[in-house]
Amino acid sequence: MTGESYLSKITEQYNQRTKQSKKLFTEAIELLPGGIGGSAPTYKPYPMFVNKGEGSKLWDVDGNEYIDFNLCWGVLLVGHKHPILMKGLQEQLDYGTMPGFPYEEIIDAAKALARRFPMDKIRFVNSGSEATLYAIRLARRYTGKDKIIKIEGAYHGISDSLHISKRPAIDKAGPPDRPNSIPYGGGITKATVKDTLVAPFNNIDAIKQLVKENSGQIAAIIVEPMMMNAGVIPPQEGYLHALREITEESNIVLIFDEVKTGVKMAPGGATEYYGVKPDLISLAKAIGGGLPIGACGGKEEIMAGIGKEGLFGTFSANPLSIRACKITLTEILTNDQYDKIAQMGKNLLSGYQDIIEDHKLPAIVQGINAVGGILFTKEPVINYRTWTKVDQEKTHAYWIAMANNGIISMAYGAEEEWLISVQHSKEDIQQHLEAFKKVAPNL
Ligand SMILES: Cc1ncc(COP(=O)(O)O)c(C=O)c1O
Repeated sequence: MTGESYLSKITEQYNQRTKQSKKLFTEAIELLPGGIGGSAPTYKPYPMFVNKGEGSKLWDVDGNEYIDFNLCWGVLLVGHKHPILMKGLQEQLDYGTMPGFPYEEIIDAAKALARRFPMDKIRFVNSGSEATLYAIRLARRYTGKDKIIKIEGAYHGISDSLHISKRPAIDKAGPPDRPNSIPYGGGITKATVKDTLVAPFNNIDAIKQLVKENSGQIAAIIVEPMMMNAGVIPPQEGYLHALREITEESNIVLIFDEVKTGVKMAPGGATEYYGVKPDLISLAKAIGGGLPIGACGGKEEIMAGIGKEGLFGTFSANPLSIRACKITLTEILTNDQYDKIAQMGKNLLSGYQDIIEDHKLPAIVQGINAVGGILFTKEPVINYRTWTKVDQEKTHAYWIAMANNGIISMAYGAEEEWLISVQHSKEDIQQHLEAFKKVAPNL
């Protein structure tokens, strides 16, 4: 059974399994746009509502159990409710919430980050959007220049300068090697759009051309060193090194947005994995073990004076998030854990590969270590334009069918990926592959 009839069948199964979710969604949508509070996925027929997570598992309000490979868009590298983290947070609560003064553990958390990433100075914030916003502001301030270059299809959060060309419609996007800058939704001024130039990923000539045409005007190039908002797209050999050379030659700040890659691909993220040192790094998601946090750090001279210019946040470096960051980085994500999750990641990727071949599915898998994902296309995916060939409907059917089989296979959507946490087991990987074996013939 394929196509429409398969989709109707699995949607009906989903409806039957998730009646309480539907009830809550119907109520939520009255007041909350899309029926969500601001961060959950929204998809058809409606998102499941959940009420418990533990280890590698998640339970919805209808009592269905899932093995979770979404892990909150890759936040929970520590898994759900890690006992070491829970104990530390409970202890922390005894000290109250926000002291409004510095406290000792901020130093520990900063040191833990500086051991992993080349950061002379670090500023904590609350989210990835803030971390990239700080990086862009600092780069403009340091260079005295206005324009920035971002990658087509990359996502760096919601600040105006960066909410551009995330999902541009192909008929408006311009030539593939010279994309137009397209605001992602309304409310972004024309001047802002003009200052954000857009280049395709994995294309150094396009970057060189933009730098040449805007000589002396570009403050920063911001990249996800491995793209993780159009599936998983690794950089081609030499790409990041070439970016480093160009930016050094032209007094441009190189920013690695490691909000998704940071502390996952390796203890020191993509920066360590690829051995290229940027000027600034933005971090968030997994560094806080599930609490809201972000960080922007890097070269002393670019970070200098940050405090005098009002770059603060009332809730930045809140003690619960900082404690979670410290525990996550020093007590949970130890070096041996990286080998374990990398091995499981390789097994998941190769298991998918075999099943795809057995069923001659029009799909590929891409990933590195604990992160990866399936892309329903036969063409190699090396940038946004090639990613747009991915079959979105098949991706939807795959995701719903896997959920019906008790597996949240990845974050919802063709642009997303899976993550394996330190609490996942070989059996979890096996069950994921068993479910995919069942679903694959219908795709
Ligand atoms: C690479 C990247 N940068 C920045 C952000 C924004 O992070 P946040 O949602 O914490 O604001 C995201 C969010 O998914 C991201 O993937």
